[in-house]
Amino acid sequence: MEVLEAIKTRRSIRRYKTNPVDDKTIELILEAARWAPSWSNTQCWRFIVVRDSNIKVELAQTLRGKALDVLNPATDAVRNAPVVIVACAELGKSGHFDGKPATDKGDYWYMFDVALAMQNLVLAAHSLGLGTVYVGAFDAKKVASMLEVPQGFCVVAMTPLSYPDQEPKIRPRKELSEIVFYDKYKS
Ligand SMILES: Cc1cc2nc3c(=O)[nH]c(=O)nc-3n(C[C@H](O)[C@H](O)[C@H](O)COP(=O)(O)O)c2cc1C
Repeated sequence: MEVLEAIKTRRSIRRYKTNPVDDKTIELILEAARWAPSWSNTQCWRFIVVRDSNIKVELAQTLRGKALDVLNPATDAVRNAPVVIVACAELGKSGHFDGKPATDKGDYWYMFDVALAMQNLVLAAHSLGLGTVYVGAFDAKKVASMLEVPQGFCVVAMTPLSYPDQEPKIRPRKELSEIVFYDKYKS
């Protein structure tokens, strides 16, 4: 699949087939993540491949909705998909120079690097016929303790990974005229 086609046809998938995903396919997808660019090539990302059903149930219990009484729409997907990938970051690497934050964005560059790796992963998965959905609304501290993520690392995001069992509608995007300016920002 061409990159542009993959970018335009990817959708968030929240219903999955139960077919297993073989190790080779998962490795191909993780390999795409590995080749993402990162701050000074620090590669702060780490990935946990979760297949254990009990752990997936526990992960699903950490998901939050937009409000406390609203379920995160990805909850069933995290619970039921054969695989969930949890993306973590080593802190104090991305955005740092000589052990100190190098910009006014402090330590938040790890979010950027992990997002780049995740987007590679998501697009690679889509190009191989698999679906994903970024999950950001969850209790990251609870997940870190559940998955025994060591001190100095944090959990950034997760995605279920498997064969789609739905064809979601296209979510609209803003027009280029609304988001692109030339020479200076125009409000
Ligand atoms: C940083 C980030 C966090 C997200 N968190 C969630 C989430 O917690 N639950 C969920 O169902 N979808 C989540 N999404 C998916 C978005 O809702 C989805 O990408 C957006 O509505 C556009 O739809 P599309 O991916 O099908 O194009 C998240 C997406 C991003 C980029």
